[in-house]
Amino acid sequence: MFYLCGRMKYDSEIQKRRTFAIISHPDAGKTTLTEKFLLFGGAIQVAGAVKSNKIKKHATSDFMEIERQRGISVATSVMSFQYKDKLINLLDTPGHKDFAEDTYRTLTAVDSVILVVDSVKGVEEQTRKLMEVCRMRDTPVIVFINKLDRDGKPPFDLLDEIEKELNIHLHPLSWPINMGKEFKGVYNLYDKSLLLFNPNQKATDEDIVPLKDLSDPLLTELVGEKDAGHLREDVELIQGVYGDFDSGPYLEGKAAPVFFGSAINNFGVKELLDTFIRIAPEPRDMETSTREVSVHEDKFSGFIFKIHANLDPRHRDRIAFLRVCSGKFERNKYFHHVRLDRDVRFSNPYSFMAREKDVIEEAYPGDVVGLFDTGNFKIGDTLTEGEDFYFTGVPSFSPELFKEVINKDPMKTKQLEKGLVQLTDEGVAQLFTQYAGNRKIIGCVGELQFEVIQYRLLQEYGASVQFNSLPFYKACWITCDDKKKLEDFIRFKTANVVTDKDGHLVYLAQSEWFLNTEMNNNPDIKFHFSSEIHKS
Ligand code: G4P
Repeated sequence: MFYLCGRMKYDSEIQKRRTFAIISHPDAGKTTLTEKFLLFGGAIQVAGAVKSNKIKKHATSDFMEIERQRGISVATSVMSFQYKDKLINLLDTPGHKDFAEDTYRTLTAVDSVILVVDSVKGVEEQTRKLMEVCRMRDTPVIVFINKLDRDGKPPFDLLDEIEKELNIHLHPLSWPINMGKEFKGVYNLYDKSLLLFNPNQKATDEDIVPLKDLSDPLLTELVGEKDAGHLREDVELIQGVYGDFDSGPYLEGKAAPVFFGSAINNFGVKELLDTFIRIAPEPRDMETSTREVSVHEDKFSGFIFKIHANLDPRHRDRIAFLRVCSGKFERNKYFHHVRLDRDVRFSNPYSFMAREKDVIEEAYPGDVVGLFDTGNFKIGDTLTEGEDFYFTGVPSFSPELFKEVINKDPMKTKQLEKGLVQLTDEGVAQLFTQYAGNRKIIGCVGELQFEVIQYRLLQEYGASVQFNSLPFYKACWITCDDKKKLEDFIRFKTANVVTDKDGHLVYLAQSEWFLNTEMNNNPDIKFHFSSEIHKS
């Protein structure tokens, strides 16, 4: 009976799923926290099993290291595990800032995030940038303030700093009793319980002490008169300022609950995870170029947010990561590839349960499916059951560094062209072609990508290249209703005009001054800072 109502068809599957990412500035503790979550989820048995996927600080020219890291990052791209009655999909994001674009795209495929802040360092550069992306999409955020075992900034100062710098309201749900050597534990404001810290021992459920309220004499007995007094004052202040927790503003992306803990000591992590599964949003509805797609729709839809090359150069196939947005994905069923206007099916789609690659028969909204791809996919591609639309908000950011590709081995021109197209399809860089010629230009957000591309072109395609830096600082996609005006602009600015891989016109600006001048002089021409404009 239940299933007669179409809207309800996959509801029980949808309600179970929580798809999120842990984000942080490098070194704040993202990898450590991820590992503790996986331990709770039973996805790994021992600490240390999740290798850090960050490219170590000094390894920028150590290509074996890059390859090794690439291998790790395939394995940990998505980690799915069961915790209590929830199926959790944790999407990994690269820590290195040169791969920030990859992180921004991954954020389009999650329904919420946990932001890790180092209590000693506070808000850092990447913290700010990542939060900007979350705010663009109103993604619900939970903040975990980590490394309480160190002498960090005072908690009220940290809250102030985060609120101001990240422009988000906070709502503490736990509160620390001291920090560093004096750290005694956290008080859970939601459950009104005390979790005591013992640096030499893992926290267990026995360490949680329920208190009637803060006047309970047990508190003084456990933490001493002075600290109990401070805690009472702090909590009174918090309750006065923040009141009771309301999940509404959190789900709207306007307020973030805050937890304090120490990931390495597995302290405060279980409380975080338990609250996460209680309050984090289910898979949500998604905007497309034509309409909003409800997560409850019967018909399948999904999009590709990440593409990863196979590490074995003899096999050119790649893994495309598909986020299911509505309906049911099924193995061997034909789906409509909107951009190619073609039906495609997948005989070996796999899931990322417990870090094993398992072939799956079906997947539901919130799930991420790995698809073997022989070059049919680009980032942002949409699959449906026939309808034509694109999921919007999968951005292609404007690159900031530009280099011309110099072919050092003319015998390998074909391989080079193929390699450039395929590697840039993965989304690590953008490929442009000179408008009035055939020079190839690569645009990236980080220097490291050029090294990776040069190395991979040689290893995987046998093509040897060199890069010549170009004096541009920004790429803008240009459009104009008046064809003649656009043609004139191109004629006058030939040296600055290129086309992207889809043939769209792009203006490369040397500096902000040049860009502003051109924008002022050409009011009819529209300058777009992300290529998404061409999809709507
Ligand atoms: P990331 O993924 O955000 O880059 O950070 P990661 O988890 O790798 O943690 C960065 C460093 O911070 C690691 O030390 C880690 O052990 C440490 N760390 C994480 N959580 C805590 C905590 O609660 N307290 C303290 N004191 N340290 C913490 P490392 O020396 O860089 O690496 P490792 O040799 O320990 O692996």
